[in-house]
Amino acid sequence: MSNSPLASHHAVDPCTLVIFGASGDLTARKLIPAMYEMSKMGLLPVETRILGVARRPKTDDEWREELEPWVRKHNVEMDESVWREIAQRIYYLPADATTSEGMAAVGKRIAELDVESKTSGNVLFFLSVASSLYEPIVEKIDEAGLVVEGKRWCSINPAQASWQRIIIEKPFGNDDVTAKSLNRTLGRAFEEESIYRIDHYLAKEIVQSLLVFRFANILWEPVWNQQYIDHVQISAAETVGVGQRTAFYDQTGAIRDMIQSHLFQILAFAAMEPPTDYTPEHVRSEKVKVIDALVPTPADRVAEFCALGQYGPNGKDDPGFAASEGVAPGSTTETFAALELQFQNWRWAGTPFYLRSGKRMAKKQTEVVVQFKPPAANLFRKLPAFAGGDHLVPNRLVFTVAPNEQLSLRFETKRPGLGINIDPLEMMADVGASFDAPAVEAYGPLMIDAMRGDQTLFKSRTEVESAWDAVMPFLSEASDGARAGIRDNYQPGSWGPDSSRALLARKGRRWYEDDVS
Ligand code: BG6
Repeated sequence: MSNSPLASHHAVDPCTLVIFGASGDLTARKLIPAMYEMSKMGLLPVETRILGVARRPKTDDEWREELEPWVRKHNVEMDESVWREIAQRIYYLPADATTSEGMAAVGKRIAELDVESKTSGNVLFFLSVASSLYEPIVEKIDEAGLVVEGKRWCSINPAQASWQRIIIEKPFGNDDVTAKSLNRTLGRAFEEESIYRIDHYLAKEIVQSLLVFRFANILWEPVWNQQYIDHVQISAAETVGVGQRTAFYDQTGAIRDMIQSHLFQILAFAAMEPPTDYTPEHVRSEKVKVIDALVPTPADRVAEFCALGQYGPNGKDDPGFAASEGVAPGSTTETFAALELQFQNWRWAGTPFYLRSGKRMAKKQTEVVVQFKPPAANLFRKLPAFAGGDHLVPNRLVFTVAPNEQLSLRFETKRPGLGINIDPLEMMADVGASFDAPAVEAYGPLMIDAMRGDQTLFKSRTEVESAWDAVMPFLSEASDGARAGIRDNYQPGSWGPDSSRALLARKGRRWYEDDVS
């Protein structure tokens, strides 16, 4: 086992990182602070150049000045020398990347930086723009001949083959049709191995830990199936509302924003078969297989398999989602969704997976709850403690992704003292606090993976398409929000609409927060 942050087969190639959408929120809040952190950790080759592209006129220095407070905000103890060093490798180009002239200017600037910095023609494009601009920009990249993989182009080192890769943010399409169209456009410009569909949940420690927990230990795999597991809950509850993003969110909703994207990544890691080894091909193909094994939700019974909600006013500072500025009048966009999914395979048939996410909920809590079945028979059933018909409390494993990184296991134990009295105990491992590892912005390691050419933690073409197929019936249910009674149906600060509890109660189950003993 290696503790090196570079414990991968591939070196990080120097490249020009071209960020389309340089003026956007994601660039300032996440991408540049992430590159600063990677640079501080010595992971970013010194030749790397960052070129921000956006329409607003601005000089390199003006952009650097704009970015600095963001990096400082992100890193309370910013290392001035690291920032100065990386800042001088950050450039800005005012251009409209959806036009031929704009993209020609981008190509020219990349070529200049390439000669100056010896990045060998390697380019990593990052689309940090509104998703409606993905296809127009990719088409212009292609038209401008900026993808020349393997061929020489303008580098000072003609002997070395270059690469051009692209990172695409979510939302990857708006539904099954638009996602396929985006995949086709990308496929015309780039090879599949150069397309990096990013999902920052795959950089979360506990999400990756799920794989290690399952496949680096012998204890769990034998019981990781429908025979022993009653059901699994995957939840991402947030206390925040939709902030400034009202118009975007009104078009998006919780199913697209969180479930089809982030929670499906956790679902795949929790449910997939063991890959042959930890390589992009094997890991990604198991994820596709398990998502393909989801039972299609019958169109006429979707309501039985989901609970949808929208937060209402709280009577104080929050007018509720529907009354927020930027939201269409009468909007029934869901800010909460809980779905019940079933797999049609030998491992999971009969064991439901509940996926849930919501804004303005009681707590920030992202977790995977694996609820085991009770023991086949209760040896202690004749003891007085069980006289009232009580049952043994089943085992439960909880992987907490946020707000802290923890793993806990509930098990029955004998209460010390005379006779046999049984009580559940919770054993907790504080994963975050147990290792002396600095917390880093999730985008950094993923961007470094893209520079290494490691696609393990990125989504494949078929995976995103299968995930869209699986959520389409729920999206169609949500699109008729008036019928589904979504409008203002839960209180901010609660655990969602009543229908959410009912979804589990129908089968005698409870959400984790209602079952914490
Ligand atoms: C983003 C969503 O992808 O993930 C946001 O668009 C959401 O709506 C965010 O708040 C949650 O990420 P995290 O890392 O805070 O759980």
